[in-house]
Amino acid sequence: MLVLGIESSCDETAAAVVRDGEKMLSNAIASQIDVHREYGGVVPEIASRKHIEAVIPVIIQALDDAAVSLDDIEGIAVTRGPGLIGSLLVGLSVAKSIAMAKNLPFVGVNHLEGHIASIFLTDDRPAFPFIALVVSGGHTSLYRMEGFGNVAVIGQTRDDAAGEAFDKAAKMLDLGYPGGVVIDRLARQGNPSYVQFPRPMKDSADFSFSGVKTSLLNYIKKRNDKVDGEELSHVVASYQEAIVDVLVEKTIKAAKETSMDRIVVSGGVAANGRLRARFRERAGEEGVTVHIPPPVLCTDNAAMIAAVGEHLLKRGRRDSYDVNAVSRWPLEMTAIS
Ligand code: KG4
Ligand code: ZN
Repeated sequence: MLVLGIESSCDETAAAVVRDGEKMLSNAIASQIDVHREYGGVVPEIASRKHIEAVIPVIIQALDDAAVSLDDIEGIAVTRGPGLIGSLLVGLSVAKSIAMAKNLPFVGVNHLEGHIASIFLTDDRPAFPFIALVVSGGHTSLYRMEGFGNVAVIGQTRDDAAGEAFDKAAKMLDLGYPGGVVIDRLARQGNPSYVQFPRPMKDSADFSFSGVKTSLLNYIKKRNDKVDGEELSHVVASYQEAIVDVLVEKTIKAAKETSMDRIVVSGGVAANGRLRARFRERAGEEGVTVHIPPPVLCTDNAAMIAAVGEHLLKRGRRDSYDVNAVSRWPLEMTAIS
């Protein structure tokens, strides 16, 4: 089936054409990063307006890149949630309009399931079941995934998401936005053992990142707001290490405790170089296989939405035109009906 995917849950307007849920024919992404950078974070009202401007050109680009026309498309998949409600509504309304005009089936997809499904767009497809870690700007959750639409939560963050912890740290250190990418780059020259930041909740499957954030804030204050040069790289490397350490160890532990030997890591933070390297290293030591999509499929994209859409449509799922966007939508409540 040839599916057009549309994604607009946060600050990326994206469209993609995917064949049979696996073959990515195009993956167009219009990023709003430059607009939001000025404010140090995503401004919801601006995001919605930018989505309205970008959505049609991005869909046209996705069709052009795939060398297909709307007449070739057999189904439409769109992110229904979770995310910023005004942003979600843009993609959802356009998806409904195209579906109606072209008499095509359309389905709303859970963005988090999309992140996990991004691995099926690569040649490194895992067999079900597996442990999935979704680490993004809004979420940090561990799941046991039995199949599409069949998922149980193992643990999740009780406060900040891992991506948020990166973004807030970068803001504290005046490093710009989005923080994850900047810290990833800066940390490469730093010593990850320079500062021993806390690794909280060792014995729980849940996460907490507010403590490590406060600990960084205290460090910066102690240094009278002057953390720069070599010390800056050491501090961000140590901060990154604390986050990576917790993510990797809890995921490996969850796999061991559920006797699972496959792990999928996805979401924006999975683009982090240190996280990828540490997962590979630890998985090798523990005899588990880790599947991580390439960075471009870790961050928000529409190909992952089309991949989930394919499975829903194939099972006969059709959403009606009165389906609404949902800002909060736990993945475990996305059972396939
Ligand atoms: O999945 P995503 O694109 O959007 C959400 O669904 O939230 O994730 C965005 C998050 C941001 O917090 C960003 O700082 C983080 O992913 N991120 C990274 C890296 N690239 C993006 N964090 C650490 N290292 C990176 N290389
Ligand atoms: Zn995302």
